[in-house]
This record gives sequence, C-alpha cells and structure tokens, in this order.
Amino acid sequence: MHYTKKDIEELERVKRLNIINSISGIKPANLIGSVDNKGNANVAIFSSVVHLGSSPALLGFVIRPTGEVPRNTYDNIMATDKYTINHVTDGFTKKAHYTSAKFDKDVSEFEKCGLTPEYLEGFKAPFVKESKIKIGLTFKEGIPIKLNGTMLMIGEIEHLIVPDEALAKNGYINLSTASTAGISGLNSYYQLNKIDDYPYARPHELPEFN
Ligand SMILES: Cc1cc2nc3c(=O)[nH]c(=O)nc-3n(C[C@H](O)[C@H](O)[C@H](O)COP(=O)(O)O)c2cc1C
Repeated sequence: MHYTKKDIEELERVKRLNIINSISGIKPANLIGSVDNKGNANVAIFSSVVHLGSSPALLGFVIRPTGEVPRNTYDNIMATDKYTINHVTDGFTKKAHYTSAKFDKDVSEFEKCGLTPEYLEGFKAPFVKESKIKIGLTFKEGIPIKLNGTMLMIGEIEHLIVPDEALAKNGYINLSTASTAGISGLNSYYQLNKIDDYPYARPHELPEFN
C-alpha cells in the first residue's frame, strides 16, 4: 500500500485517524494524574509524552486544550501547576485505556476504572499506585502548536520513582523488568521485550555487522 498526501486527505475520517495515529510506531503508555483546586483527583491516558532534555530534566506531552469537550487534565495543570506521569504496565492496560472516556469533572476516573490514587507528602497531584515507574512534575511552559490547535505542555521533574530491580548502575531503566507497556494508534497495547544494549556509537568503533 502506498498513500500519497492526496490519498491521505481523501481517506474516510476514522481510517485516516487510525493510520496516522499508528504510523509513528510504538508510543509510550502513560497515565497523567492531576487534581483541581477542590482536591478532585483526575487521571487520563496519554501517548504523547516525550523527553525534552536532561538538565533541567524536562518532559513534554501534547494536549488539545480547548474545544467542545472540557479537558480536565489541562484545566487542573493550569490551576495547580503539578501533575504526575505514570507508566502503564502490561498488567493494567484495560483499566488505563478506559480512563480516556469522557467522564464528568466530578467523576473520578480512578474509581470508575479501578485504579488507586497515591500521594507523596508535600506533592499535590495524585500518582497511580498500580504503576511501577512514576514521575512528579511542575508545569513550566505551554507551547501552542498553531498548525492544529494542540499544545506542547512542558514540565520539570520533581520526583522520580523507579523500582530498584529495573534501574541499572549507569542509570538505564529496563522497561521489560518494569513491565511498561507500549501503544500503537489509539487502542492497541503492546508488551515490550528488551533486545540488547549497545555502547555509545563512534565512527571508529564499529562492530562487525553480519
Ligand atoms: C491510547 C490513547 C492515547 C491518548 N493520548 C492522548 C494524548 O497524547 N493527548 C491528548 O490530548 N489526548 C490523548 N488521549 C485522549 C485522552 O485520554 C482523553 O481525551 C481523556 O478523556 C482526557 O481526559 P481529561 O478530560 O480528564 O483530561 C488518548 C487516548 C487514548 C485511548
């Protein structure tokens, strides 16, 4: 199959959405936890989390902040500045998926989807107890992407929780050991199997390829 730009534009809407959402390959599966000013906890699945830099330690994710439907995650981050990013493991992909349903603001996705909010002393936003790798962030900057009305939300890491058995001495995190799942498109979940580690690649240190 070969689609040109014109073919893509002429595809039926849902098919186009599915193809274009899948074509970038495996995306990270994360639940973003947030809280409003009244203390109502919120959690929703996001596949667009991306590393932006290590010093300062920055992560971004893409959100569509406005439109016909309210975006609780966006509103809560704007109100409190704090949020959490929690890896979905292969053991609770179904629960994680259903957090994407459009629940009313006063309904807790935690409760509806069988997930457990967990709090760190002194940090407002809820973590997801069922996750093994969890990150607490402070919102720093929102960069509007004018092309499609989305927003790149940038946060700085305040807390990082990683199981000891998944963390190597050099800092590498083994996602297979942590049972972290991956996402394709908007509804397919994958298990991750680590293939290998390779050293920093230098032009004069190439191995034999065979
Ligand atoms: C697999 C999957 C990945 C998603 N990734 C994103 C994303 O990266 N950005 C986004 O704005 N919405 C994403 N969504 C949609 C949100 O989960 C959905 O809009 C949710 O209702 C938002 O909840 P909130 O209103 O509590 O913020 C995704 C949905 C699914 C099923």
